[in-house]
Amino acid sequence: MLDQKTIDIIKSTVPVLEKHGEKITTRFYQLMFGNHPELLNIFNHANQKQGRQQKALAGTVYAAAMYIDNLEAILPVVNQIAHKHRSLGIKPEHYPIVGKHLLLAIKDVLGDGATDEIIDAWAQAYGVIADAFISVESEMYEEAANQKGGWDGFRSFIVDRKVVESDVITSFYLKPVDNRGIAEFIPGQYISIKLEIESEHYTHIRQYSLSDAVGKDYYRISVKREAGTANPDGMVSNYLHDDVKEGDILNVSAPAGDFVLDTKKETPIVLLSGGVGLTPMMSMLKTVGEIQPERKVTFIHAAQNGNVHALREEVEELSALENITSFFFYDSPTEEDRLNNNFDVEGYVTGEWLKENVTTLDTDFYFCGPVPFMRAINRSLKDLGINEERIHFEFFGPKASIEA
Ligand code: HEM
Repeated sequence: MLDQKTIDIIKSTVPVLEKHGEKITTRFYQLMFGNHPELLNIFNHANQKQGRQQKALAGTVYAAAMYIDNLEAILPVVNQIAHKHRSLGIKPEHYPIVGKHLLLAIKDVLGDGATDEIIDAWAQAYGVIADAFISVESEMYEEAANQKGGWDGFRSFIVDRKVVESDVITSFYLKPVDNRGIAEFIPGQYISIKLEIESEHYTHIRQYSLSDAVGKDYYRISVKREAGTANPDGMVSNYLHDDVKEGDILNVSAPAGDFVLDTKKETPIVLLSGGVGLTPMMSMLKTVGEIQPERKVTFIHAAQNGNVHALREEVEELSALENITSFFFYDSPTEEDRLNNNFDVEGYVTGEWLKENVTTLDTDFYFCGPVPFMRAINRSLKDLGINEERIHFEFFGPKASIEA
């Protein structure tokens, strides 16, 4: 437990560090990767390049510091990050490395402003925050390893099937090489794939949502080909699309993530997705169709047009069930889309449309997609007076602000 004086120092210096937040974390990564280049095997180089990770880590350390005497209050945030850490294989021995370089970076950026007293207080605070993460994560490691079909770290999976779903999205059906069964997951969760690409010095780890129903003997991911092989996001997804073939082996970590559908509840649900954000929604839709067919589901998917619209047939098949209704929104339909009636609404999903077409009473809303899509949906739901507890969303990549 920290003493009151240390707590006071931490709380009074948070605004200063916040002001220099990104500068400190940018310096922190420079120093840490300089001394520990092996960590580049774990961190996402695309997030680094775009500064996304800098923002995520800085924000969380300061938020945690503000609650240093009541970390319970930020447990949901710790929990969500811990899922990601567990999926990546972050271990207790990594924490002192981060702590040491964070303090060095604070010293570097603040210069004389970083007195011994301040540095000592932050060292103690970091220790408390790190312990909170380590403790939540160790429980998650145990749970992942001990559940039926579960495992620790990365396990070899064979690409059993590779299916092109649209011009930009391809599915991979993955089965464990050891044939010993796989861990159950909750719809909405993701797995990490660790890729060893021949031309690359470091391994690359990426998270992909599971896109099929629970209870199969495989995991399915549906990957969007990102533009440009020069950017690291594009490099990994293009490698999966172009170079990974049926019969190849991929390293996979056990399912993780806290953006999940509660299948114990029976309330109506609305699943909204934009582009490749449909993957966790597919898992939710298919799972409900199989194990809760009496539950009312509205599935709304927005795509540019039919060429990039993946998994249409699977949604249409489920829409034949009495309780499942689906709507496809295209913002740039092709002539062929018009001829074949491929879509229901031309344009974007608006609050007005939701008000007129979706029941909001006691309904849970789940959404995932590009950031502008998520912001628009979030704003519309708030305007409709939907309680925050019934709004659930998932960002791909580090969390960004959803408030426009
Ligand atoms: C992801 C915070 C310790 C490695 C994240 C994210 C946050 C965060 C906010 C983004 C979560 C998301 O995208 O959902 C923290 C805090 C830490 C800590 C507050 C210390 C108390 C560590 C340690 C390591 C680590 C010790 C390993 C050396 C990573 C990696 C990611 C990540 C690899 C994935 C993002 C990427 O690759 O760009 N962390 N973290 N973190 N963290 Fe941590």
